[in-house]
Amino acid sequence: MDYQNIKLEKDGAIAILTVDRPKAFNALNSATFHEMDHALRSLKEDTRALIVTGGGEKAFVSGADIAEMATITAAQAREFSALGHHVFQSLENLPIPTIAAVNGFALGGGLELALGCDLIYASEKAKLGLPEVSLGVIPGFGGTQRLTRLVGRARAKELLFTADRIDAARAKEIGLVLDVVPAEKLMDHCREVAAKILKNGPLAVAQAKRVVEFGADQDLRSANELERQGFAVLFGSEDQREGMAAFLAKRPAAFQGK
Ligand code: HXC
Repeated sequence: MDYQNIKLEKDGAIAILTVDRPKAFNALNSATFHEMDHALRSLKEDTRALIVTGGGEKAFVSGADIAEMATITAAQAREFSALGHHVFQSLENLPIPTIAAVNGFALGGGLELALGCDLIYASEKAKLGLPEVSLGVIPGFGGTQRLTRLVGRARAKELLFTADRIDAARAKEIGLVLDVVPAEKLMDHCREVAAKILKNGPLAVAQAKRVVEFGADQDLRSANELERQGFAVLFGSEDQREGMAAFLAKRPAAFQGK
């Protein structure tokens, strides 16, 4: 597929997906979602981490495309919302870590995209928020739920009700972004985090992601049961034997993802 609205690049085992419509501050229209969906499905097993970022200087993603949404019907809105949910759920379902490199405005659907990633890092220039109520709507790509789970109900409601744009430092303070780095260092920082993860057993990282994601919405007993299953399953893997043998032999592990 020839992408018009995104770029998908490989840097060794790291894939970089850039939402790239700088003229519209990388707003998400349906075509962009379809390309993202295709890109996520096209990732091969040699991709072990994904960084998501925005093209141009100003924006990560400025939200859903308001020009496209302005005249749609309720039925079309439901479809559009379902499309966004599908793509962000696919992102969450990837068995590899995903990192949002928030390089500028992450508003509305843009913040929801970041929230669909495992780790969020922001540049000092980033501004984040959910301005939907200022447009007479609410977030429709999972933002009301994922933000609430991340920062708690009251902070989520504060952002949702006020439509405030907060800076990166404030976003870190409320636990929305993990770290704030100078703009020119953002991608390197994300690559370094990815590189650190890549040294570890890929099956184990995938299980860690899976049990956190599926456990987060369950009661503690069920969630701990998920952990026990995930832990046990890894003992059928070559990676587990290799990881432990390497430790005992005082050498670095050579994980195969098997
Ligand atoms: C379409 C957008 C856009 C968007 C920016 N643009 N955001 N187009 N959809 N979400 C376009 C502008 O129309 C403009 O195009 C160009 O990008 C630059 O934007 P400006 O406003 O001129 O730039 P600036 O003054 O620097 O302000 C930047 C901004 C502002 C703060 C990001 O553009 C803004 O507030 N954008 C809307 C943010 C927003 O409300 N997002 C939530 C959308 S609702 P031209 O052609 O004039 O140069 C949403 C719902 C999701 O996400 C759920 C749906 C189911």
